[in-house]
Amino acid sequence: MSFTVAIDGPAAAGKGTISRAVAAEFGFAHLDTGLLYRAVARRSLAGEDPVAAAQALTAEDLADEAALRTRAVASEASKVAVLPEVRQALVDFQRAFAARAGGAVLDGRDIGTVICPEAAVKLFVTASAEVRARRRWKELAEAGEEAEFEAILADVKARDERDRSRATAPLLAAADAVEIDTSDLSIDEAVAAAILAVTRKRDA
Ligand code: DC
Repeated sequence: MSFTVAIDGPAAAGKGTISRAVAAEFGFAHLDTGLLYRAVARRSLAGEDPVAAAQALTAEDLADEAALRTRAVASEASKVAVLPEVRQALVDFQRAFAARAGGAVLDGRDIGTVICPEAAVKLFVTASAEVRARRRWKELAEAGEEAEFEAILADVKARDERDRSRATAPLLAAADAVEIDTSDLSIDEAVAAAILAVTRKRDA
């Protein structure tokens, strides 16, 4: 039986950490759908047409995660994600993943609204732009990419703006999503809130 958990929200709100923890807790498979857009972006930065890249994407494109986690790739990802043909090319793969037996967690921007509107559980994870920029800055520093905090904050705000204002599948909480604002939560508290929300739906 399939059981899909859809986790959406803006960049660096804590979706990744929460998704991995929920998947581990319930034994579900996990797909970070942002990686798909990042992989398309990486090919696009190398000169390929983004739509052709999305149509030709394979598992190999997702293998080098570090190369997909750079600022340049993140910024390009939010640009290619605006293109309806790019989004369309990635739908079937995401839906097939969501339907796998044993349960699946998908995190992204449009999982609860477009990819899996019938998901058993929908979470919308948010945090203030400042808190998210601080987390992203720390992550990049740990990965050896030094950057000015103000520049990261500007990146976060620009990406939010593009993700929220695009015509196709904008970043938006589904009407039936449980919102978790992680601004003032520790990782453990945020994870506990998510696990509680999943448990409630599973046992309902
Ligand atoms: O979550 P992330 O930072 O890895 O996502 C990178 C970009 O991909 C983000 O700016 C928006 C886009 N994206 C999307 O449009 N839809 C998704 N389901 C996931 C990511």
